[in-house]
Amino acid sequence: MQTMSSTMPMQTPQDLFIHELSDTLSAEQIIVEMLGQAQGMVQNPQLRQGLQKHQQESQEQAQRVQQVIQMTGQQPHPVTCHAAQGLMQSLMDVVQSGPSPEVLEGAVVAGAIKTEHLEIAGYTGLIEKAQAMGQSEAAQLLQQNLQQEQAMLQQLQGISQQLTQQMASMAMAQDGSSASATL
Ligand SMILES: [Fe+2]
Repeated sequence: MQTMSSTMPMQTPQDLFIHELSDTLSAEQIIVEMLGQAQGMVQNPQLRQGLQKHQQESQEQAQRVQQVIQMTGQQPHPVTCHAAQGLMQSLMDVVQSGPSPEVLEGAVVAGAIKTEHLEIAGYTGLIEKAQAMGQSEAAQLLQQNLQQEQAMLQQLQGISQQLTQQMASMAMAQDGSSASATL
């Protein structure tokens, strides 16, 4: 696993800004892969389309983050976003358990919602830093990414509510049929 700690000590707010941008770039790259895999795990057409659209958006987002790093005149740090990697691993744990299609779909939505919260927190912090350092062009680019993440979160939350209700009514129907079978 790559680390910067021994080679490049971070000393200034600008160093931290670039480190966080690099972490975000890594997150976007992991998320592009995760969204690609997730499309094959779901049946709901609205969800599949949403994941596909956000995969394209995430590629654009990675380009915007690279653009912001270029504007600082520095190279991205070779870091891995452990948080995004962990969310991907959690989804894979469910996949490896051999879930039912409904459970797998539910796990994809839950994982995607957590991912959006992570990204929203990340971009909010980056925008604050860019604004505080007077880098308004960078702040604007990051703001575009934040808006896309917020729109995706909203869509996912709507789908999640729908799927949760469907799962709850399926569970109730199963309870009802097993209760009548025992009578
Ligand atoms: Fe993103």
